[in-house]
Amino acid sequence: MNKTYTMNNGVQIPAVGFGTYKAADGKSADVIKKAIESGYRYFDTASFYGTEPYLAEAIRQSGLPRKDFFIASKLWKSEMGYTNAREAFQRTLENLDTEYLDLYLIHWPLPEPGYENWKELDKETWRALEELYAEGKIRAIGLSNFLPHHMENILAGCTVRPAVDQIEYHPGYSQEATVQYCKEKGILVQAWSPIGRSRVLEDPLVCELAAKYQVSPAQICLKFAVQRGIIPLPKSSSPERMKQNMDLFSFEMDQEDIWRLATMPQSGWSGEHPDQERVYF
Ligand code: A2P
Repeated sequence: MNKTYTMNNGVQIPAVGFGTYKAADGKSADVIKKAIESGYRYFDTASFYGTEPYLAEAIRQSGLPRKDFFIASKLWKSEMGYTNAREAFQRTLENLDTEYLDLYLIHWPLPEPGYENWKELDKETWRALEELYAEGKIRAIGLSNFLPHHMENILAGCTVRPAVDQIEYHPGYSQEATVQYCKEKGILVQAWSPIGRSRVLEDPLVCELAAKYQVSPAQICLKFAVQRGIIPLPKSSSPERMKQNMDLFSFEMDQEDIWRLATMPQSGWSGEHPDQERVYF
């Protein structure tokens, strides 16, 4: 569980994080407190999730020093643009009751599908993040839900290269083109919804591999990220599953099985795509 990667700016990042989207539906810090007790130190939040204050509370109550945690947040679609981004960052710092972030991401490349000036908007937003990074307020900056054509726009004019791209990634929706692009450009991939929908947990191939390696279907999904150098950000409300989701280093899948997972038919897609209206299933 102490495994880390080194990002393209030399900063270390834990190999598994805890996703906090919908982690405070009960309007409390309880789930995050349990995750800290279960051993998680890397927490992924976003202004959109509404979980920043609960994460701050859970960290405060843990009694552990700030430096023991790796905290990542994101600016929302309505917070894009140079001035908005700087203000959004300040609000996030206040919500998280911290002096700095370990990682800060642009949540989506477009405020809405079809938005005409997205290239300019992304560049302006990125410029704000570069400045905050240079000021020492963020240890690494990155992207989320950016596809290769969105990343090309950032890479063409940046002074600081994105350290990560956080995308939907799980068996049945592993976005191979984006993963490949990130590998070529030295951008670390992170997986949101690494367990996919319940359909993925019942998928015959995922279940076959769970039986073969004597682990749960969820562990197969998470290992499908880990073995490709991708950081999974699982969410769970149960301490037992929280612990299970970190137990990913005692088994290794054969390369052949990784390829089978990477090429299985599309399944469990969230319906979200940055260039299109959301699809509801
Ligand atoms: P629960 O909170 O009851 O554990 P994803 O992060 O891919 O979107 O998936 C989140 C969902 O996966 C949650 O509903 C969570 O339910 C469930 N989940 C998390 N870990 C496991 C696990 N190890 N086994 C089965 N379901 C899990």
